[in-house]
Amino acid sequence: MARFRQSKDIMSIRVLTGITTTGTPHLGNYAGAIRPAITASKNSDVESFYFLADYHALIKADDPVRVAQSRQELAAAWLACGLDPARVTFYRQSDIAEIPQLTWLLTCVTGKGLLNRAHAYKAAVDKNNEIGEDPDAGVTAGLYMYPVLMAADILAFNAHRVPVGRDQVQHLEMARDIGQRFNHIYGDAWRQLTGKTGEPLMLPEAQVDEHVATLPGLDGRKMSKSYNNTIPLFLPTNEMRKRIMSIVTDSRAPGEPKDANDSHLFQIYRAFASDTQTAAMRQAFAGGISWSEAKRQLFDLIETTVAPMRESYLRLLQRPGELEDILREGARKARAEAAPLLEELKAAVGLSDFRTLPPPPIIIDAGLAPAEITLSSNATVSISKPPSFKQYRESDGRFYFKLIDGEGKVLIQSPGHASPREAGQWIARLKQTGTVLEMDTEGMLCLNGEAVGSMGDATLAAINEALVQLHDD
Ligand code: TRP
Repeated sequence: MARFRQSKDIMSIRVLTGITTTGTPHLGNYAGAIRPAITASKNSDVESFYFLADYHALIKADDPVRVAQSRQELAAAWLACGLDPARVTFYRQSDIAEIPQLTWLLTCVTGKGLLNRAHAYKAAVDKNNEIGEDPDAGVTAGLYMYPVLMAADILAFNAHRVPVGRDQVQHLEMARDIGQRFNHIYGDAWRQLTGKTGEPLMLPEAQVDEHVATLPGLDGRKMSKSYNNTIPLFLPTNEMRKRIMSIVTDSRAPGEPKDANDSHLFQIYRAFASDTQTAAMRQAFAGGISWSEAKRQLFDLIETTVAPMRESYLRLLQRPGELEDILREGARKARAEAAPLLEELKAAVGLSDFRTLPPPPIIIDAGLAPAEITLSSNATVSISKPPSFKQYRESDGRFYFKLIDGEGKVLIQSPGHASPREAGQWIARLKQTGTVLEMDTEGMLCLNGEAVGSMGDATLAAINEALVQLHDD
């Protein structure tokens, strides 16, 4: 069907990852995420989608200045580090209208229980419980919905592989669960509408790279903005020198041999050095290099790597229009992928262009009086009121009910009951889903062998059809 996108003949591996825009890029981000992602994007059999997860940022930060700065800094940093926007689709999450749209479609198939199990949400609840607070104190629905938004980021592009840190593996599993659930519910409708085979949503794989360097920070713990121990990637030269000189070391004196393997300074060095440089530094450690000399060499090494990138970083930050253009072009490419998919998914759930649909059967609406309505096509259809039960008391003191159709014709006439309750119980039984009446040899209507009443001016089929319309869900 030409209305929907055609499948690609040649499928390359699509790799997608997001960067939350809450902080300033540091050496740990560079070695652990930026550099490996850029290297991977140069591989010709992959199609890379990298984006700034600026909607995710709002979950963690409610400081607009910080979010605004971070997305500019991260955009400039990735480009300055060598990301080529001509070969990679590089965009801001908030520029892709299809992501929040898909988020809603996915929200409606996601079990609340699944989200209750998300680590980030659970950690917040556990912390509240520990301090005797209300379990959900300070927990926003944004934090709760985080995994669904992330699933939409990925599923909107049919990504195959998602490079993430260990802490994100659960989110990838959830993205798969959510995608699978969508496929299960809407797969048939999607295949019918599009004429395609397969599934509407691709289930992504997490890619956790064990070889990627995790850098220690100034204090030896993992470099992270939450520990306040980072070395920002683009510090001015002098600041960079000072920061590196403040890396915490032990008290071994110059001349004393030092163990490279348990030195975090060495680990940082190794992340930027060639094999030869690494081997030489290991030797120097064994030979008793002083900590200040080792730091000086680390600074030189980092400065050599960073200086040219810093220059383009600063240049880009000074040209916001250029950055904006690059990201808008990325968004255009990204939306060209997501929009056709979303159109299919919306159609699959029942949200499609009216012109593509057959006219629906006329719905019988209790609020409408019997009337003749004319449809825009030339069919004339009469709409009648739905059937209904009437309860009443006769002069014999007994309680009766009857079932009448929309025009007031009697379908079932009950015998007299001793109480209104008894008559009401019959009505309730008749409204139960799947109720089907039979006729006994005397012409009485029966439900499972019990007499319900006599048949009015109708056929048994019409009576049963009326009961189907009336059943309680
Ligand atoms: N949640 C991820 C993180 O904090 C960032 C992210 C958002 C992401 N959407 C994504 C990563 C989609 C991969 C795919 O690291």
